[in-house]
Amino acid sequence: MREVYLDNAATTYPKPEAVYAALERFAREVGGNPGRGGHARSLEAGREVLRARDAVARLLRVGDPSRVIFTKNATEALNVAIQGVMRGGGHAVITSLEHNSVWRPLEAMARSGAITYSIVECGKDGALEPSAVRAAITPETRLIACVHASNVTGGLLPVEDIAEIADERRIAFLLDAAQTAGRKELHPEAMGVHYLAFSGHKELFGPQGTGVLYIASGWEVEPLSYGGTGSLSESSSQPEFLPDRYESGTLNAFGLAGLRAGVEFVLEAGVENIRGHEEELTLRMLEGLDRMKGITVYGPRDWERRVGIVSFNLAGLTSSEVASRLDDAYGIRVRSGLHCSPLAHRTIGTLESGVVRAGLSYLNTAEDVDLLLEALGAMLSSV
Ligand SMILES: Cc1ncc(COP(=O)(O)O)c(C=O)c1O
Repeated sequence: MREVYLDNAATTYPKPEAVYAALERFAREVGGNPGRGGHARSLEAGREVLRARDAVARLLRVGDPSRVIFTKNATEALNVAIQGVMRGGGHAVITSLEHNSVWRPLEAMARSGAITYSIVECGKDGALEPSAVRAAITPETRLIACVHASNVTGGLLPVEDIAEIADERRIAFLLDAAQTAGRKELHPEAMGVHYLAFSGHKELFGPQGTGVLYIASGWEVEPLSYGGTGSLSESSSQPEFLPDRYESGTLNAFGLAGLRAGVEFVLEAGVENIRGHEEELTLRMLEGLDRMKGITVYGPRDWERRVGIVSFNLAGLTSSEVASRLDDAYGIRVRSGLHCSPLAHRTIGTLESGVVRAGLSYLNTAEDVDLLLEALGAMLSSV
């Protein structure tokens, strides 16, 4: 049985060969702690981290690579921005498609009485009216946080309009690009994004344990953690300069060596080509699903408003039954349930059922899509 991996929205598998090679090279041939010593292995580890930072800065077209901060995942990056901006209190605005990595930190701060926040409701198809964001702003609003593409519907949000609204009011704008980094052009300076957070292990093909936070000039906040940075060690204060201000403790240099190779793979393939490939596969999947009776597909249909994540349910089966049958009987890996995004499921009406989610990557093929469609066809005829 040929395995079909379609859980790329959780984490990509497989990775490009260059990523495995970079990980092996670091583990076997480098091995030092970056920025922590003057010896050859430490210096080479430091150069690996610099190369990773430069690669991400090129991807984002950010002039100053020190604004690229490495974190352990998107969640940590989002928390630095959210807790940093909201530290002194105030009001935040989010959408009803946010992941728990945005919702939970705000909810925790709100429960402790430190802040308030509003959730702007999106339509059942995941569409967001930018004027609803403007209407939710109060004189106390300090942060607007918004997902770029929903990890449940695959739908893109009108982030350029939201950035404009944030800019008009001088409100911090945080973009959760966990599902768009590597598969959609992402240029925070041109887009007016003040904080950009994403994972390294999804469409950038890095290993798990890698994430990025970009902070625009003038929007620096207090860090979440303090400690050794390998710089200004004589001082009891955290360095003010970036990236050290936000990178306390030993970095995941091993993972970052892999992330560098993943980002270079994306740059070489070209983000627009990656998007074109995913368009082809996504439309093939959507058309195939549309031909079957008994399947409900969620999210927008128009490619301009989506990325390569397709969510659906089969009549007569729960989403977890579908996912485990696909896994056991067909070797097809998808994810069922709520995908850490109960707000999004409430929005599209699937909080009870969850959905089956097929997440594509650049390394999937048309044959992968056809094998999924065949398996679903066989399952439907036996329900
Ligand atoms: C939209 C969105 N935001 C945030 C995250 C959190 O990413 P990580 O698990 O890398 O922290 C995810 C992960 O699936 C996501 O899809």
